[in-house]
Order: sequence, then structure tokens, then C-alpha cells
Amino acid sequence: MSTLFVISGVTGMTGNELARKMIKRGDHVIGFDNFFASSLDTVRDILDKSEFKFYEMDLNSKKEMMDIRNQVLEKSRFYKKLVYVNCAAVVHTEHFYHVYQTYQTNVEGMKNFLEQAIEVNADAFINCSTSEVYSMQSWSENGVREDDYILMATAENSQRTSYAAGKLLTEFFMKDAVDQGKIKGCSMRFANVYSKNERYPKHIIPHIMNSLAKNRRVVLLENSRKNRRTFLHNSDSCDAVLAVIDHESALDGTVYNVATQEEVTILDLVKRCAKVLHIEQYDIVFEGYRESDPERRILSTEKLQRRTGWEPKITLEEGLKMCAGSYKKGMEI
Ligand SMILES: NC(=O)c1ccc[n+]([C@@H]2O[C@H](COP(=O)([O-])OP(=O)(O)OC[C@H]3O[C@@H](n4cnc5c(N)ncnc54)[C@H](O)[C@@H]3O)[C@@H](O)[C@H]2O)c1
Repeated sequence: MSTLFVISGVTGMTGNELARKMIKRGDHVIGFDNFFASSLDTVRDILDKSEFKFYEMDLNSKKEMMDIRNQVLEKSRFYKKLVYVNCAAVVHTEHFYHVYQTYQTNVEGMKNFLEQAIEVNADAFINCSTSEVYSMQSWSENGVREDDYILMATAENSQRTSYAAGKLLTEFFMKDAVDQGKIKGCSMRFANVYSKNERYPKHIIPHIMNSLAKNRRVVLLENSRKNRRTFLHNSDSCDAVLAVIDHESALDGTVYNVATQEEVTILDLVKRCAKVLHIEQYDIVFEGYRESDPERRILSTEKLQRRTGWEPKITLEEGLKMCAGSYKKGMEI
């Protein structure tokens, strides 16, 4: 007997890849999304599969979430395991400043979804959190660890931190539910996930590739003169979710960093994108400044590796080649 997964935000970058991987394993997925930041295109290849059931629904709608609950109750007895994965969120940087909207979906929505998982007696709940919770203390010599203290930018500095503060609160909900014996689960602090299918123009890799391909000119924030980041391919981030699900002892309510150790400057990222697109000449222009943006973000993933054996498989060079291939196909560069 297989597992029934219930995925919120299933047409998003993490959700659609997870659904594909789960179906490939022989499991079944009930997924929903309100298309806040995605479309049906991302799951078109699995839409007609009997293992996948999609609903256009909103995490913030009580009625629609009741419909999901009823669907799950009807079906779950035919499966060995029932697992909820909360991918739905107001994610992208431009939205981080909309405090209430971010709070409603990311905090209230997550809490209600977790309560539903507990009510239907799900075996586990995976909470997608973020490396943004490390805020201004996002790096250290050997990478920041999950139990390191956090130096957070506040409303005095930037409304942007409301996203991180909300996600941090969901980690407490997750821990509390597990500590009280209501469900198993954990939180995943992803760091800068990207995918070859990503088209969101505000995300750094699509932004750079688009700008290079169309104008041979990339506009970057002033912060990019110094900033460095690691980038995690979404196949690897989804494998991390599957790894914790497959290791019950990892579902202890705690938090896992999910990242690579391959740090690059943003300027080097532009150079690498140009290389995989075979573009030799381009300009870089600096415009604008983002408050409370850490210069580096390096996470220790020792905990996740020790407990599950997970490690990233796709190097940045391989990942960028995949992105370039998909760009060329979609845009006839
Ligand atoms: N992409 C990253 O770099 C990154 C980094 C850290 C954490 N995360 C977290 O991982 C999770 C997945 O992120 P992602 O990269 O797939 O982002 P994404 O924006 O691609 O996916 C999120 C999905 O949630 C959907 N959604 C938003 N509000 C909704 C609502 N009210 N009801 C139903 N669906 C709704 C969106 O339409 C979108 O499809 C999120 O919780 C995010 O905070 C992502």
C-alpha cells in the first residue's frame, strides 16, 4: 500500500516537483493551489494521471479547506500512510513587504492546515520554512546551524523581515504539535531554491538569464556588489523532503537546514549564466538598495545529512545548464 500526500501550493516550484517525485515512487497526491504565483502549466504533464488529483483552491478559504479535508477522509483508509506537506506561501521578495497578506497565508494558513492534518490523523506534516529566518546572521565559519541564535532585523529596519518572522512562528507551531504527541513532522529551512522551469522575473536566476538573453544588460541591486549566495536545485530540495519523510526519527518537530555549500558572488552568478547561454558581451548596471539583506548566507546541513543521509546532487554548473536549456527551448534564444 502506498502513501497519500496532501500538498498545498502544488503548482509552485517545490510542490510540482514533489508531486512528480511522489507519483514516480508509486504514491498518490491530492494537491491544490490558488495560482497566486503559479499556473496549471507546471503540472500539465501529470494532470491526467490517476495518482494525482488537483484542485484550484485557496488555503485561506475555510470552505475549500473543508472540501480537502472531506476528500482526504474519504480516501485515506486505502493508504498505508497519510502525509501533509505545506508548500503554499506568499514567497517572493516583492511580496515580503505586504505584512498582512504574508501573515494570513504563511502563518494562519499554515496553522489551519496543520490543525487539519492533526484532525484527520495524518502520520506526518512537513512545514516549509526558510533560511531567511537567520536574517542578519546568515553565515558563520562552518555554516549557521539550526540551534544557533538569531540576529533578526526588525520593523525598525525593514518590513521585509515579516516573512521570516512569520515562518519562524510556524516552526514553533510544528514543534509544539510534535511535542504534544499530536503528529510527527519537522520544518525545512530552504536556502535559495531554483528550478529550470522557474520564470518568475523577480527571482535572481530567471532575472539574470532573461536580461542577458533579451538585452545583454543586467540590472542588479547595489547589494549585489558584495552579496554571495548558495543556490539549491529544486530536485535536491524535494529529495530532502522525501528523505525526512522516509526517516521517521527525523520527524521530531525540529528544524533542518537545506542548502548547498557552493557559495558564489552574484557577479560570478551573472558570469556563469552568461557562459551557459554562450553570451560573451554584456553590461551590468547597479540600481536600488535592499535594506536588511545579509551579505552572505551559508548554512550547515550536517544535521540533515547525519540523520537522513541526504546531500545535494546537482552542482550549480549542472543546474544552470539545465536552466539555460529550458530557456532556449521556451524563448528561442
Ligand atoms: N524558493 C525558495 O528559494 C524558498 C526558499 C526558502 C523557503 N521556501 C519555502 O518553500 C515553500 C515552497 O516555495 P516555492 O519556492 O515552491 O514557492 P512558489 O511561490 O513557487 O510556490 C508557492 C505556491 O503557493 C501558492 N499559494 C500562495 N498562496 C496560496 C493560497 N492562499 N492558497 C493556495 N496556494 C497558495 C502559489 O500560487 C505557489 O504556487 C514556501 O513555503 C516557501 O516559503 C522557498
